[in-house]
Amino acid sequence: MSEGHVVLVGMMGSGKSSVGRRLAAALGRPFVDADDAYESRFGTTIADAFADLGEAGFRKGESEVLDDLLASAAPTVIAAGGGVVVVEANRRRLSGGATVVWLHASPAFLAGRAKAKAHRPLLAGADPGDVFERLFAERAGWYREVADVIVDIEPFHDRGPEPKQSLAERVAVLVRAAEAAGASGGVRA
Ligand code: S3P
Repeated sequence: MSEGHVVLVGMMGSGKSSVGRRLAAALGRPFVDADDAYESRFGTTIADAFADLGEAGFRKGESEVLDDLLASAAPTVIAAGGGVVVVEANRRRLSGGATVVWLHASPAFLAGRAKAKAHRPLLAGADPGDVFERLFAERAGWYREVADVIVDIEPFHDRGPEPKQSLAERVAVLVRAAEAAGASGGVRA
């Protein structure tokens, strides 16, 4: 496969946006954060969308944003929202051509890192350990299903001084390999 879209998936706090930005620079492709794209497209915040429409309403809009981003002609690095895989149609779209990278980490690791930001209503007022255990149990199989490349992010945080930069550089190598191989066999690091 030649250059196409790269979609970063994984739980809240796995670094999809910060690694995605660096990955885009390494690959020389534009970067889009799907949560930001949602807020611009619908002229609302994610927190308000959850409050006004409920999670199901938010997911509907999130699917439209994913469709739009995947339909754009220029190969782009896209940081998806953590829950994009819960919708079956999204999983089908993700499996249909883009190179999908799962930034994998254990729920305990993520619970210690993910910040309860305004765009993350699922973390508001809840015990992060419980939320991450529950979401990971629900979603891990789906992340695995759509992923062409799976990277365990924890060793990067344990080792180097610049974990996000090292991760982005490693992911760039794996994405190029997956694109060259047609993303058929799957790459794991
Ligand atoms: C969500 C993750 C958030 C955002 C929304 C729902 C989730 O994005 O899309 O709060 O269901 O995991 P990030 O993964 O970028 O924080």
